[in-house]
Amino acid sequence: MTTLTPPFPVVSGTGSEPATLAPEAGNSARPKLLPHRIIAIGGGKGGIGKSILAVSLAIELARRELRVVLVDCDLGGANLHSLLGIDQPTSSLSDFVLRRAANLSELLVPTTVPLLSLISGARNAIQIANPLYQQKVRLLRALKKLDADVLVLDLGAGTHYNVVDFFLLAHHGILVAVPEPTSVENAYRFLKAAFLRWLKALDARHEIKDIVQDVARAESLAAITPAELLSAVTRRDAGIGAILAEELATFRPLLVVNQVRDTRDLTLGESMSIASRRLLGIELTYLGHVRYYDQLWRAVRAHRPLFSDQLGRPFAADLAAVGGRLLACARAEDLA
Ligand SMILES: Nc1ncnc2c1ncn2[C@@H]1O[C@H](COP(=O)(O)OP(=O)(O)O)[C@@H](O)[C@H]1O
Ligand SMILES: [Mg+2]
Repeated sequence: MTTLTPPFPVVSGTGSEPATLAPEAGNSARPKLLPHRIIAIGGGKGGIGKSILAVSLAIELARRELRVVLVDCDLGGANLHSLLGIDQPTSSLSDFVLRRAANLSELLVPTTVPLLSLISGARNAIQIANPLYQQKVRLLRALKKLDADVLVLDLGAGTHYNVVDFFLLAHHGILVAVPEPTSVENAYRFLKAAFLRWLKALDARHEIKDIVQDVARAESLAAITPAELLSAVTRRDAGIGAILAEELATFRPLLVVNQVRDTRDLTLGESMSIASRRLLGIELTYLGHVRYYDQLWRAVRAHRPLFSDQLGRPFAADLAAVGGRLLACARAEDLA
């Protein structure tokens, strides 16, 4: 029998007593590997592994010596603390949204994983599941200011703008899909919803609304693909078309295919990326896959934390590959 190496750093603390706290702000002993980055994990459908990936990717990035804050943005059903094997924190995002806490940093709780802190999701979801516009703007601003190398935002299901806005706020939005038609459909729907929302924000900067609405009547905007919109706008006004093309090139979502079970599933990521370029005109960069692990759902069911050594090497290898490509994308963008 082969001995399994723990996939993630083994911690010295016990479940109730965290081994390490994320370093204080301004700790400059370590070389800075990349600028402050926000990564959001979304995907439209529920139950496909967004939270699992958010937690395990956060652990993987912390393993690479980045100071990571995992933020449970699933305002309807926060559960990241249990995947990390810690008690539900007494403070949560609700405290910030409802102004019981002035700063997000007050809500940081240490985890047993070195360099990884958590901001727990809403305790009383009903109060903030659909935050008011001002509440959301305040939250988005505060997230941008939070002191960390990387923020990993775990988003809820669906394509509501309250979910999509967090995806768009991020430097890197990771779309999760599993090899099932409903998940793939939902992923495209999510991309489309994100694009429409993104277009709205773009309008505030470039006043492109008139021409966009001219080209695609407001009610049919949802039916037109980004690529169609771009070529129609360009035909009307080459200048605005060029602005749109330039901005569209900055909309670069990433893709992870989760719960891969056989070799056919391995081609899904590339196919989705090609289809996204052809059908939507959106560059969807494929970061890689995570296989289906029986031990993983067993760990979740048994309330064992995700860094449990029973998850084994292959899971760690999948995460390391995805994490490596993600950091390569982040660095490439930084150099651009
Ligand atoms: N790669 C995987 N291997 C095995 N089970 C998985 C995997 N990814 C997700 N699961 C199972 O799917 C369930 C739902 O995952 P979760 O991350 O909570 O989904 P979401 O956040 O998208 O709603 C998990 O509890 C786990 O049992
Ligand atoms: Mg979830």
